[in-house]
Amino acid sequence: MDEAGFEFTADWFSNSLPNFEKNLSGYRGRPVRFLEIGSFEGRSTVWLLQNILTHPASKIVCIDVAFRPAFFRNVRKVLGSQPWWKRFARVEALAGQSVALLPTLPANAFDFIYVDGSHSDTAVLQDAVLSFSLLKEGGVIGFDDYLWDNPEHNRFGTPKIAIDAFTSVYAHQIETLTLDYQAWFRKVKDKRAVASVVKQESAEMIVMPPAASVS
Ligand SMILES: C[S@@+](CC[C@H](N)C(=O)[O-])C[C@H]1O[C@@H](n2cnc3c(N)ncnc32)[C@H](O)[C@@H]1O
Repeated sequence: MDEAGFEFTADWFSNSLPNFEKNLSGYRGRPVRFLEIGSFEGRSTVWLLQNILTHPASKIVCIDVAFRPAFFRNVRKVLGSQPWWKRFARVEALAGQSVALLPTLPANAFDFIYVDGSHSDTAVLQDAVLSFSLLKEGGVIGFDDYLWDNPEHNRFGTPKIAIDAFTSVYAHQIETLTLDYQAWFRKVKDKRAVASVVKQESAEMIVMPPAASVS
């Protein structure tokens, strides 16, 4: 138990605090909706609830293949004596593989998505692609462990391979916010959405998007 009474046995979060502060402070106190893939004991969830998700209508959906019992005790400690249904409205815990759960969530619904689940290359790529469609335009996606590389543990690849593949394919829809040990991006208007052709009776009319959206 730490000095504030939370039950944490590991800390994979504190080193990244500057990135959370820098990229998420604009969401503080607003009725935003976050998604976290990989919650473990809730260290990142707790920090988000205490520091960013302070609006009573803000919410975080957490996905983990196996929530530790400490996760629920730690979340309860933040949300205090609220009845369970009010706590559920603020923190929704979905247990299972992210690849199975992400397609069940609503598209374009989240302001921030934190990807910190499985670190295999295929899983990170799937999490990136599946969660990107859940992110609102203007929303932020953050990946932990972009530079994680531990030969003893990376026989299933590294997050970097997957994140680099994701960013090269989605380059027209993202803006880089942070690229250090973590990787953070903003989802922007699709820069490839250029002219679309509309056929009207016998004439072909080319409809151009507003000049501002063409880069
Ligand atoms: C590094 S921990 C998350 C740490 C947490 N975000 C924090 O900062 O305190 C990774 C978590 O991802 C979960 N996980 C691993 N593979 C997963 C998968 N395929 N789907 C969902 N969760 C997964 C693990 O159970 C573990 O709790």
